[in-house]
Amino acid sequence: MRTLQIATLLCVASTLCLLGSFQSASRAGQQPLLQHEAQIKELVGKMTLEEKVGQMTQPEQSALKDLTDIENYFVGSLLSGGDSDPKEGNSFEAWRNLYDRLQVHTQKTRLQIPLLYGIDAVHGHNNVLGAVVFPHHIGLGCTRNPGLVEKVERATAEEVRATGIQWAFAPCVTVPQDIRWGRTYEGFSEDPALVRELSGPAVRGLQGMSLAEPMSVLACAKHFVGDGGTVYGTSQLKGAHLDQGDTKVDEATLRRIHLPGYIAAINAGVGSIMPSYNSWNGTRASGSKRLLTEILKEELGFEGFLISDYNAIDAITPNYKEAVAISINAGMDMVMVPQRYREYYKDLVELVKDGTVPMSRIDDAVTRILRVKYAMGLMDKNRNQLSDPKLASHFGSPEHREIARQAVRESLVVLKNDGNTLPIAKNVTRIHVGGKNADDIGNQCGGWTIDWQGKSGDVTTGGTTILAAIKKAVSSGSQVTFSKDGMGAAGAKLGIVVVGEKPYAEMRGDRDSLALDKEDQEAVTNMKAAGIPVVVIVVSGRPMILGDIVTKADAIVAAWLPGTEGQGVADVLFGDFAPTGKLSFSWPRDMKQLPSHQGDANYDPQYKLGYGLKY
Ligand code: BGC
Repeated sequence: MRTLQIATLLCVASTLCLLGSFQSASRAGQQPLLQHEAQIKELVGKMTLEEKVGQMTQPEQSALKDLTDIENYFVGSLLSGGDSDPKEGNSFEAWRNLYDRLQVHTQKTRLQIPLLYGIDAVHGHNNVLGAVVFPHHIGLGCTRNPGLVEKVERATAEEVRATGIQWAFAPCVTVPQDIRWGRTYEGFSEDPALVRELSGPAVRGLQGMSLAEPMSVLACAKHFVGDGGTVYGTSQLKGAHLDQGDTKVDEATLRRIHLPGYIAAINAGVGSIMPSYNSWNGTRASGSKRLLTEILKEELGFEGFLISDYNAIDAITPNYKEAVAISINAGMDMVMVPQRYREYYKDLVELVKDGTVPMSRIDDAVTRILRVKYAMGLMDKNRNQLSDPKLASHFGSPEHREIARQAVRESLVVLKNDGNTLPIAKNVTRIHVGGKNADDIGNQCGGWTIDWQGKSGDVTTGGTTILAAIKKAVSSGSQVTFSKDGMGAAGAKLGIVVVGEKPYAEMRGDRDSLALDKEDQEAVTNMKAAGIPVVVIVVSGRPMILGDIVTKADAIVAAWLPGTEGQGVADVLFGDFAPTGKLSFSWPRDMKQLPSHQGDANYDPQYKLGYGLKY
């Protein structure tokens, strides 16, 4: 009991401390959003109710019933969800054309307010063919390098802007507490302090020194709040255990674990925040006035706008119109209504007319949205609203690939290295490589790559698989052979088996068991049967249960979901770069240990949070 009281006191104190630093930052005038309040007031004063509701509406571009809906519904924003490509394919050119084609419609409206176009650029501009795909957040967390995280997000912003798009639904500042959750890899860490440390740099990377810079992209901290704290078994989604479930913790715990990333993001000037699907003690976050208005806007002083998650308001209550009212009155400013936008628009107009939603709430929402649009320079009549061909050279550039490669090598965590198996000599006569993730760019990139759930195989152009990287790294006289099942290793000096997960994303990535699959285990066994030292590389979105591989393998490296630049893996394997990565999640021995964290009474994982060998 006493320990509990002390813990509560400590966490209140640390939250107050964080709040203190936030307030001094705003007092110091670092909040870049409040610069055009008089103009905004004048504009809001001129707007009709319909024009205001239009600004609060975000349809999915592929679900627009007619492009003229952008004009007729005064649409303020559009999104491309994880699977929403331009009709003509998803080349760089197709994306630029799509953006331009949609943006021109706003010029036909009375007020000509430009669209904010949002996309899930969560590890690079990952929906677009040929983009540089960076490691997912879990790997960036292991780098523990805020400067590098900022560089990664800056490069992402440059690739996004090259297609004209100005808004990334990133960074995800979730603090996953149970790695069975399929979104674990979207989080930097299970440790709130590390998430706090990396969230600010991520926002700064995307938004640049000022939102008005041509290469800046509006960031969106998500998913507010407690998305990573849901209790196993509380999800109502088919097949999921945790995703969109209920976070059952008291307010002090919610603040201690799940809030610090948002405080850091707000401190860094984040312009948008996405309320979450999950509930907090039974109430959907997207309909919670306590969370959205009292804590986020009033207490933390967030001055940007809130964008709901994809169809998230539908889950607040079965009656759609009532759900719209609850969410807007709770403080939601813009609603992601992929398909139901006409219905939502009609409902919200009616709800204001009949007094259920006060006009003051609508004005507050529109003011916040316009505040961001002004801060981004979008309201500047001289700004070219269309994509700029001059920015094309940034897309998929060698400079960005280099940043990604650095991120990969700093994210690798060496878990075991018996008998100095690593680093591998480049002139070794023959290396045999095996495993399903050795030669698969899609598996290396994971979910949210080209497709929403990701896909195995040659999903994107450019990039290097781990096998190709090994081949490039060895000396000219050395031989690299490959068999997926690890057979045929006899005669080689060393084996490398690349095992792990296949791509998945939200809703479909929750798992009961994180054991390595049979195919992986057999590949390691086959390789070991050749009587050679074996290095196991785990490519996965979370720690996996290694079982007897812990003893069988001579060396083990966690490579997470490194993205397109597999050469970064070889940099560490062959000693061109000394490993520095440290676990951003505890690595359990078995499923029975889950969930378990540093500070728990029987914390005894295979590898602890912060673990990582050097050589
Ligand atoms: C996800 C968000 C994402 C949104 C738009 C939702 O399903 O939860 O993270 O930003 O879709 O694609």
